[in-house]
Amino acid sequence: INRVITAMKILGIETSCDETGIAIFDTDKGLIADQLFSQIELHAQYGGVFPEIASRDHIKKTIPLIKQACEEAKISLEDLDGIAYTAGPGLIGALLVGSSVGCSLAWALDLPSIEVHHMEGHLLAPLLDDVKPEFPFVCLLVSGGHSMLVDVKSMGDYTILGDTLDDAAGEAFDKTAKLLGLGYPGGKILSELAVHGDKTRFKFPRPMLNRPGLDFSFSGLKTAVRITWMREIAEENYNESQHKDQLVKDIAASFQEAIVDTLVKKCQRAMKQTSYKTLVIAGGVSANSELRIQLKDLDKKLRIKSFFPALKYCTDNGAMIAFAGAMRLMKEQNHNNVIKAYPRW
Ligand code: KG4
Ligand code: ZN
Repeated sequence: INRVITAMKILGIETSCDETGIAIFDTDKGLIADQLFSQIELHAQYGGVFPEIASRDHIKKTIPLIKQACEEAKISLEDLDGIAYTAGPGLIGALLVGSSVGCSLAWALDLPSIEVHHMEGHLLAPLLDDVKPEFPFVCLLVSGGHSMLVDVKSMGDYTILGDTLDDAAGEAFDKTAKLLGLGYPGGKILSELAVHGDKTRFKFPRPMLNRPGLDFSFSGLKTAVRITWMREIAEENYNESQHKDQLVKDIAASFQEAIVDTLVKKCQRAMKQTSYKTLVIAGGVSANSELRIQLKDLDKKLRIKSFFPALKYCTDNGAMIAFAGAMRLMKEQNHNNVIKAYPRW
């Protein structure tokens, strides 16, 4: 059959953690629907993501958001050409919601279902922008669960140049925020406070910079911050809350500086190693404004060009899954509707 597929509409379902993200990507028109429900308020009282509550809320939101996405795109389910869903990594219960809804819907509509790796979704998110990076590029992928440098030769051709040996960058942000009593979601709150802090007050270690290679390790930095915090609290008279507030801001700024400095120097190394001229930053931590500022400086220094996703596509969303699914479907056509969920993919 010589049916030429001119344009495809792919539904994307993201339920790997604490955001229900549903979007529709049209290979002709681009993103035609984008729905997101953030569970932040549900988890805030626990200081972190409560997995069972996450799963239950995804169950409540997934189908209503799919309906809303169809309304937004002014299409019906029958107009879809494929269903993409995050198959991992992530929380098993949360993943199972998206994968079972996605596969069931695909089966009912007689469409292919496409399992998407959450990190590939993040990695491709900058391609949703009007001004897109071109292959090949180096991608600094920094989220709550991963910190990686990836050599991206083309769609699907990825070589990991460096990985985290312990905590991911976002995890380090979150744990430090928790230590400082900033609550959840820590990374964003900490970075907002850091703007008002003195980043030179504390000199925290820049992990792994004195060694060759592109791997990351942030657990030592986290410990250094903890020791400083405990010492300061014990030694100084912080009864005056104003002083304590300033201490928190200064630690936040000094910690952020150590992390950003480490990430930027590793990016510099990766650019030299590959001789590529394009750097892409993606994942939740790519929303960090200090990281954006310092990488823009690196652009000038190395005569490269760096690309960041729009802020709403840095953290978890359905658009990146719909897009990655569309790219995968165009490349390889054999997709079965076996429900897949790989928490540690
Ligand atoms: O990509 P993402 O939404 O989820 C995962 O795939 O893990 O990333 C979430 C991570 C969290 O650790 C969060 O603290 C961090 O991204 N994050 C930030 C900022 N916004 C989100 N970290 C630093 N600065 C920010 N502005
Ligand atoms: Zn993510």
